[in-house]
Formats: sequence, structure tokens, C-alpha cells
Amino acid sequence: MTFVIAIDGPAAAGKGTLSRRIAEEYGFHHLDTGLTYRATAKALLDAGLPLDDEGVAEKMAREVELADLDRSVLSAHAIGEAASKIAVMPAVRRALVEAQRAFSRKGPGTVLDGRDIGTVVCPDAVVKLYVTASPEVRAKRRYEEIIAGGGTADYAAIFEEVKKRDERDMGRADSPLRPAADAHLLDTSEMSIEAAFQAAKTLIDAAL
Ligand code: C5P
Repeated sequence: MTFVIAIDGPAAAGKGTLSRRIAEEYGFHHLDTGLTYRATAKALLDAGLPLDDEGVAEKMAREVELADLDRSVLSAHAIGEAASKIAVMPAVRRALVEAQRAFSRKGPGTVLDGRDIGTVVCPDAVVKLYVTASPEVRAKRRYEEIIAGGGTADYAAIFEEVKKRDERDMGRADSPLRPAADAHLLDTSEMSIEAAFQAAKTLIDAAL
């Protein structure tokens, strides 16, 4: 049986970096499920199609190829915003969750990160982590990332966006962001990625 690790949490909590690190450590396949929502949203935007037509969005979701997902072309802020809008549609979620579940069965093990992995996509995952950090810390990380990349950013605006995205992800009716009952909470507000990785490794090693 495949060893599945489910990692959920809000935007910019550090779950992407942590997931990649874990996948590398154990030689497991990794899927950032946010990219599947982003790829669907980008396909709609590129085709000039509306973001609020569930049937059209579902069709696009069914065409997403997991092997082609490339964060560098999907990272734009506008794509993330559009992704969180189409992510409220049950038909879109059903289509993407199907593909994500198929991925999760790849041997010997998989790491999936997103918002609903431990609760909906892989409720039987062996290890579930809920990675979080305060909105202030997450906004600061996002801000510093942009500045380090040579861009310009406005901390107050980023902070508002982080809060708005949280509200949308936690407030939607279908698969809202919340920790699974059996998830281990990892608050990275005052923790380095290395410390978070060591904490996760201890939990995973105990379950291997
Ligand atoms: O994690 P990322 O910022 O790439 O995700 C973009 C959006 O996709 C999220 O804000 C969320 O609305 C949606 N998403 C989701 N379920 C997942 C992963 C992402 O609804 N498992």
C-alpha cells in the first residue's frame, strides 16, 4: 500500500517548501494540488472564458495534465486569486480531486499538499500535517519574497490579501480549509523551515 502524507494549510504558511523537502527525504512523489486549481484558472483566463461558469470550468479542470504542471508559469498573483474563485465550485473540485486521488496511489509513497488533503482527498493518509502561521508572519514572508526577487510590494496590501484568501478558503461550503481531526498541527510562525522539517520527520519516522 502507498504511504500517503497529507499536508494542508493556508497560503504562505511554508507547506510547499516543507512538502518538497519531505518528498525528497523519503523518495516519494509530490503533488502541489494548488497547481491543479491554478492550471484550471489559467486555462480559463488564457481562453478569455468566464470564471463563474461551472460547466465550462469543470471541462477545463478535466483537461489538466498533472505531468505538465509548472509553478513558474502558474505563480502569478492573479492566477492564485482566480484559482481560489473557481475552487468554490463543486464540479471543479470533483474533477481535480479525482486526478489527485489517482496520483496519491503512486508507489512507494506520495506527499500531497493543499487545503483539503487530510479531510477530503486522502482521508486515510498515514500522516496528516496542518501547517499554519499567523497572517502577519505569512504576509511578511510573501512581502520579503517579492523584495528579494527584486520586485516592489506593499505590506499592508499583502496582509489584506492574505486575510481575504483565508476567508474565501475557510468560508466556502465545499471542502473548506480546516485541520482534519487526526492532523498534527505545526505552527511555523516562530519556527524555521528546518525546524518544521525535523518535527515532521519525527512524526513520519514513527509511522513508517
Ligand atoms: O496553494 P495555492 O495558493 O497554489 O492555491 C491556490 C488556490 O487554490 C487556493 O487559494 C485555494 O482556493 C485553492 N485550492 C483548493 N484546494 C486545494 C489546493 C488549492 O481549494 N487542495
